[in-house]
This record gives sequence, structure tokens and C-alpha cells, in this order.
Amino acid sequence: MIYITRREHFSASHVLENINLSKEKNIELFGKCNNFHGHNYYIEVTLAGIPHPDSSYVMDLKKLKEIITNEILNKVDHKFLNELEMFRNVIPTTENMAMIFWKILSEKINVDNVKLYSVRIYETEKNFVEYRGE
Ligand code: NI
Repeated sequence: MIYITRREHFSASHVLENINLSKEKNIELFGKCNNFHGHNYYIEVTLAGIPHPDSSYVMDLKKLKEIITNEILNKVDHKFLNELEMFRNVIPTTENMAMIFWKILSEKINVDNVKLYSVRIYETEKNFVEYRGE
């Protein structure tokens, strides 16, 4: 198996809040992140596959870039995540972002020789979350 990864960037804002809990509990859980703020996110999408006999590519990375752009970046870049349909009734933590982006991408990427292997979201240089669909 060969693993290929495309890294992309987007900026977005959010508020981390559980609307079922009190203001005090939200501040206890989320601290400063209970306020409106933004991040410069990076997303890394890794595919696992077997190089195609014609091209020797697992997938043309230009094609992967297009899928990430159309399915994720165009929907979230410079947006307020809490207001997006994909995050309705979901707290837009990095964990939930990774899982939701996985679901969206997995519907576009599962072709013959290739499988979506992981979605990694970097919220800061030091914090990132990885989801492998399990
Ligand atoms: Ni945040």
C-alpha cells in the first residue's frame, strides 16, 4: 500500500459552546474558546492505494486537491463554522471537523484502487486531530 497526502489551508471562526449547558459550565469546559474567535487551519487528507497501472499514481494529487477544494475549502474558508449546515447541532471542535470532513470526503474518494485513509486537522501548530473513519 502507498500513502499519498495533500495538505491545504483555510481560515474559519467558531464558538465552542454546548447549548444544553449553563454559561458557567460552558466556561468551565471551553474557557477562552467559548468566545468568538478564529483559526488558521490546515487539513491533510491521506489516501491509501495501489498505483494505477497506466499512470503509476495512486491518485493524481491535482484531482485530490480539486476534491478537497470543492467539498471542504469552498464550504468552510472564511466562514463562521457554527452557522454552516454541516455543523448543525454539532459543536465545531477539531474532533467533529475531522469526522464530518471524513464523511464528506469518503463519499467522493472511494474509487477502485484508492481508499480514504485519514483526515488530519491542525487547529494550531501544536494541536491536531486525526480521524481514520473507525
Ligand atoms: Ni477554537
